[in-house]
Amino acid sequence: MQYAVMIKDLVKTYNGFEALRGVDLQIPDGIIYGLLGPNGAGKSTLISIIVGVSKPDKGDVVVLGGSPSDPRIRSLIGYQPQEHGLHPNLTGWENLYFYAGIYGVGKKEARPKIEELASTLGVLDHLGKPVRTYSGGLKQRLSIIAALLHDPELIVLDEPTTGLDPGVRQKVWDLIRDLRRRGKTILLATHYMEEAEKLGDEVAIIDNGRIIARGSPEELKQRYGPPAVIEIVLGEEGVGDRLAHALASQGIEATVLGRDRLRIYCKDPDAIIPDITGMAYRLGLSIRVLRVVKPSLEDVFLKLTGRRLGENES
Ligand SMILES: Nc1ncnc2c1ncn2[C@@H]1O[C@H](COP(=O)(O)OP(=O)(O)O)[C@@H](O)[C@H]1O
Ligand SMILES: [Mg+2]
Repeated sequence: MQYAVMIKDLVKTYNGFEALRGVDLQIPDGIIYGLLGPNGAGKSTLISIIVGVSKPDKGDVVVLGGSPSDPRIRSLIGYQPQEHGLHPNLTGWENLYFYAGIYGVGKKEARPKIEELASTLGVLDHLGKPVRTYSGGLKQRLSIIAALLHDPELIVLDEPTTGLDPGVRQKVWDLIRDLRRRGKTILLATHYMEEAEKLGDEVAIIDNGRIIARGSPEELKQRYGPPAVIEIVLGEEGVGDRLAHALASQGIEATVLGRDRLRIYCKDPDAIIPDITGMAYRLGLSIRVLRVVKPSLEDVFLKLTGRRLGENES
């Protein structure tokens, strides 16, 4: 099989509101496919159709060569929903055995698998406690484990690292890469551009129910990104707008991030850096950091939509 997922002209409405407006998507076997978009873009809706939880109004969906409503196909899919489906009064172990059981994996078989995954993600010590005592991050990791117990071919993760701290996020990323190494196909929905960029072999950018660009992160940046980006962090907060305004009068267009950061797209950074530092000096503003960086998927999103994707204050 060549494609784990083939979708054509998918439309989904909720009470007349079009959450998906004609989506085409092909996910090749064995890769990490990033579905990147802001909140409300339609990621979870698209995913729910791919995993067979909901039905489209229109369009063709072929998953692993069949229909996601076919139980045989469903048993090949591992799905971590954005809103986890864990029972608060059951322990971690009980929840995981329950999910294993749904897919016909017995306790004996599930146990070593749970131990391995739980220790990889650092939750093993918590499995004896009821889920209601878990932090959000623990529940998140438990629900990722629940999606993997039946050794699925296609793994669909809906914002698996939202709310996780950086160390734990890294563990989840390592696990996802390990799954790919073992030949699995992973569909990863995220609103973190860094996550899509680092993990995605291919990425589709979704906005307002439409896929507005697709390709490898490198291709997307080459096609839509500026040649270079100058990042500036000013010495005090709340002055970003002042510098941006002054630069605009010199024909240098800057995007203000946060209250003290600027992002300037250009062809030749060396040619305009003196203008920038000179202007900051005249305004009496100190520059704490000035660096030339490569464009990111955030810049691609900004270019395509005129809006920012979200958090990127790194
Ligand atoms: N069950 C629902 N009923 C009505 N509107 C919905 C429902 N689920 C999602 N939506 C709307 O559809 C759009 C896409 O939502 P969703 O697929 O959850 O986006 P994402 O996962 O990218 O944040 C949003 O505008 C959301 O408010
Ligand atoms: Mg969602």
